[in-house]
Amino acid sequence: MISRSAFRLCSRMPFAWMIAAFAALSTPALAAPTDAGKYQLVLGDCEGCHGKNLAGGVVLMTPFGKMVTPNITPDKDTGIGNYSAEDFRQAMKNGIAPRNKLLYPAMPYPSYARMSDADIAALWTYMRSVKPVRNSVNVNQLHFPFNLRFMMRGWNLLFFAPAPYANNPAKSAAWNRGAYLVSGAAHCGACHTPKNPFGADKGAALTGAALQGWFAPDLTSDKGAGLGTWSAADIVEYLQTGRNNHSLASGPMAEAVENSTSRMNGTDLKAIAVYLKNLPPSRGNGGGATGIEAQMKSGAALYDVSCAACHGRDGKGSLIFPPLAGNPTVRQVRADSIVRMVLAGGRGAATARAPTGPGMPSFAWRLSDSQAADILTYVRNNWGNRAPAVSPETVGHIRSALHSSS
Ligand code: HEC
Ligand code: HEC
Ligand code: HEC
Repeated sequence: MISRSAFRLCSRMPFAWMIAAFAALSTPALAAPTDAGKYQLVLGDCEGCHGKNLAGGVVLMTPFGKMVTPNITPDKDTGIGNYSAEDFRQAMKNGIAPRNKLLYPAMPYPSYARMSDADIAALWTYMRSVKPVRNSVNVNQLHFPFNLRFMMRGWNLLFFAPAPYANNPAKSAAWNRGAYLVSGAAHCGACHTPKNPFGADKGAALTGAALQGWFAPDLTSDKGAGLGTWSAADIVEYLQTGRNNHSLASGPMAEAVENSTSRMNGTDLKAIAVYLKNLPPSRGNGGGATGIEAQMKSGAALYDVSCAACHGRDGKGSLIFPPLAGNPTVRQVRADSIVRMVLAGGRGAATARAPTGPGMPSFAWRLSDSQAADILTYVRNNWGNRAPAVSPETVGHIRSALHSSS
């Protein structure tokens, strides 16, 4: 549904690390009521969209145009200082701000609707305690006709059926906690669940979705495209540190890890892993490509020259470079994320436990569309990987999208 266009580089600076590392070392016992609320803020990644001081101004690119997040500090003129507790609950659970203002689902209220009233009340206590900041924001910069707020009435009617999380007595407490977090506060589906042309969820939850030049992978237990080959501990490690033996978080996921999952407690991360491991496998990525011999041959030669130095000729990577063999990111139905990675390069998530994100160089200036397509088709169909071929046209589309966004 959204991608955050502004990477907050400041969060990768050494000083921020020291603070993050300190926070990780000295986990305080829950004391003030605001601690519980602050933890809800972490679970919901409010800072990821509303900024570190919650004063808004973060630009979100959506398929319908641009939104700039509002100021949600207690400032009375430019923030939400005039909200009552009930106003806040309505915004979070029904997507309705005071004076009947219908919110756009770029604010993930369809997920927050599943949060318990107690968790929302705790969050509200914390929201009241943060420093008010004066910052007025022009939020709605969507294209016509999406900029017309009343259209959200139709959207809500068609696509939004608010329902609090219902405990499933047939499952364990950990599974239920995981399901509650994934579908609620942590809004994993906002990125990982396929969307219809109106940006609403469609089809099976968490089976993967394209977002603004990235692909948020399949999180089901499918062995080809999903997390079928990951253990629960692998999932916890990835969410906590942004990396594991299979993969390395970049782009929007690196941000979600830095702001949110790396700051979740171990019990909650385990619960999320229990829930994800128990998701029924999706229908996968449609299997391997056929008729790609020419692409495979050219791709193999180009790979050895451009990529093998870091990712290994065997695709197994090394301590600092992620493997491409058996890496689910590589095997998704759509290749958006990996095309983008090759063209634009990237930097892995940096977290308190693993503070330096290694870098991947940009190849946009070195590889033509068809060369990049050949290499990626090879990577997607070698070392046991199986996934549809990548066409030069796909690379070309993503290349022009990258041009227009920079
Ligand atoms: C994925 C990005 C995103 C995340 C995460 C997010 N928000 Fe928002 N939020 C938005 C956007 C965009 C709007 C503006 C929506 C609109 O005006 O239609 C918004 C609007 C709001 C509003 C309504 C403000 C008003 O106009 O009166 C409140 C309150 C709010 N968010 C609170 C939160 C809280 C609390 C969290 C964390 C639990 C959170 N948001 C997380 C994007 C986000
Ligand atoms: C803002 C969008 C966004 C949100 C929110 C988000 N993800 Fe992701 N996620 C992504 C993207 C994009 C990738 C691919 C990253 C890459 O290519 O390195 C990803 C990758 C992953 C991966 C690695 C999968 C693989 O095959 O390599 C896991 C596991 C994951 N996310 C779990 C989660 C969980 C659990 C949540 C909720 C707590 C979550 N994500 C929330 C966008 C998001
Ligand atoms: C100088 C070392 C280096 C070279 C050369 C290099 N990479 Fe990378 N690659 C990295 C690093 C580091 C990352 C992790 C960065 C990140 O995730 O943001 C990465 C990430 C990736 C990913 C994403 C993996 C994931 O789990 O999200 C893919 C796909 C990839 N590289 C493919 C390639 C291809 C194809 C080439 C050759 C065209 C190549 N790389 C060349 C270092 C390199």
